[in-house]
Amino acid sequence: MEFLSKIATNNGHGENSSYFDGWKAYDSDPYHPTNNSHGVIQMGLAENQLCFDLIQEWIENNPKASICTPEGSNDFKDIAIYQDYHGLPEFRNAVASFMEKVRGNKVKFNPANIVMSGGATGAHETLAFCLADPGDAFLVPTPYYPGYDRDLRWRTGIQLLPVVCESSNDFKITREALEDAYEKAQEANIRVKGLILNNPSNPLGTVLDRNTLTDAMRFINEKNIHLICDEIYSATVFNEPGFISIAEIAEEGAVCKNRDLIHIVYSLSKDLGFPGFRVGIIYSYNDAVVNCARKMSSFGLVSTQTQHLIASMLSDDIFVEKFIDESMKRLAKRHSLFSRGLAKVGIENLKGNAGLYCWMDLRRLLKEPTFESEMELWHVIINEVKLNVSPGASFHCSEPGWFRVCIANMDDETMRIAVSRIHKFVIQKTKLDQATTRKQYKRSKLEISLSFRRLDEFMMTPQGPKPEQSPSPSRSKSPHRTRLPQRRKKNICSLENNRCCTSDNWSPPHFGDKMGKMSEIPATYQCIRRGSRDSTDEALRVIFRRRTLSSKLHSQRGFCWWHRLALGDILGLSSSCHCFPQQGGMVA
Ligand SMILES: Cc1ncc(COP(=O)(O)O)c(C=O)c1O
Repeated sequence: MEFLSKIATNNGHGENSSYFDGWKAYDSDPYHPTNNSHGVIQMGLAENQLCFDLIQEWIENNPKASICTPEGSNDFKDIAIYQDYHGLPEFRNAVASFMEKVRGNKVKFNPANIVMSGGATGAHETLAFCLADPGDAFLVPTPYYPGYDRDLRWRTGIQLLPVVCESSNDFKITREALEDAYEKAQEANIRVKGLILNNPSNPLGTVLDRNTLTDAMRFINEKNIHLICDEIYSATVFNEPGFISIAEIAEEGAVCKNRDLIHIVYSLSKDLGFPGFRVGIIYSYNDAVVNCARKMSSFGLVSTQTQHLIASMLSDDIFVEKFIDESMKRLAKRHSLFSRGLAKVGIENLKGNAGLYCWMDLRRLLKEPTFESEMELWHVIINEVKLNVSPGASFHCSEPGWFRVCIANMDDETMRIAVSRIHKFVIQKTKLDQATTRKQYKRSKLEISLSFRRLDEFMMTPQGPKPEQSPSPSRSKSPHRTRLPQRRKKNICSLENNRCCTSDNWSPPHFGDKMGKMSEIPATYQCIRRGSRDSTDEALRVIFRRRTLSSKLHSQRGFCWWHRLALGDILGLSSSCHCFPQQGGMVA
């Protein structure tokens, strides 16, 4: 008999995912400047702790806002009793006005359309329950906040379908990508109920531009689907270009044909740094959704004590302005400290101007461009470098090698230590890679010469091919040297792993890998022995049979050109020459 329900046991929460390894590593060995200075630094926690001093100062200066002070305790009775689930009017007014300020007062929010929830987490789930049925889907551009899988899917039974965005255009959300995702859903007979945008983006730390927002609005209008815009990082934009809320586009009648489709998710977890208060907001332009969400909000109300404090704090215009301004400056400074630090060792970030993150590009540190290599590198970063960063795969990124780093959950000194650990790691890894490359290169030369010796041994056995004509008068200890003249060895350009080498991807070849199975060698050898240019080409075709060596490939790559090889060049090939674009196409 099953004791627990399917929802309870379906693992949709994600807590058992391997991406929690970083958290486990941190929990078992947390960094502390004096007690555990070699511990793991937490860079996976999306908290904004940069302005706590300002909040603390405000709380101390406003004791009446708290019911736990002599000044505020008189309000205790009114706060402690049951409240209307619409929320305290002063709370909704203050939140609406704060949301307007953060958006430069370019838009208006009606407090009547505000619904409370337990953080943005609760807001997303409530909206999913209101807008979709089990089996329906929402489109989400990648990479995206992993919590969406839990918040939108787990208990609701809806699906999330990726809109694949790529690094080639800085992960922009294009109309083609949206159409593509929508079409795929249709082909799979999945009903798409909406699109989810996250602006500014976690993990990218970038904002959506007006064109992207307008395109998205047109797209959802055409398809007649909902648009949920998660704007929980709206006050974290610290550099140009500024933040444009979907509310601005919604107010443009020419673009937004149906405001009933637009819903904004907000919370105070990131902008103010209060994730513990669980203040989440749904702002919907659709009254039916507001009513339905409000009924559901009974399961995730914000405590009245918190509403009371927040209402008071956000109604203090002077404080709010100072806070927003100072928070941006501190985020900008922190972002610059981190990204300049990485740049010193040649590590780049996606150019970001918002959020609490850097989207770090470690593609060049991967052994191979695969998610397995990303995972391997991640484990090294956690266990040896002792930084808990988050791998791109956990954000459903379509390309391996990207990592999210939280930059606002620690003090400057800890950040400096984290940066210096990255420095040390990158420098050591680069040295190690170079040493390994040199070793492999030497080994490959040795293997090649051994293989040729084996080839010769084979040729001398009765199973070996009968020589039609001996290219050398006699067999010596190094027969290939005598048979295949030295002078031809140098001008050879080889392909590496089915692509020409660039200085970035260069690695020494492995004989077995490059040349194919050893069983191919006799056939090759026969061709060589025939000695003509045609037969040499044939030999090469055999050698590179599985490497699709063709002149087409060469011309496509542009930077590598092929020398026709004659008999002697085969040995040159065996001594593994590599192509470098900056060196005119080849080196021997
Ligand atoms: C994009 C995004 N949405 C929602 C959430 C959840 O926020 P909350 O703590 O308010 O539930 C997060 C938290 O990291 C987030 O990054």
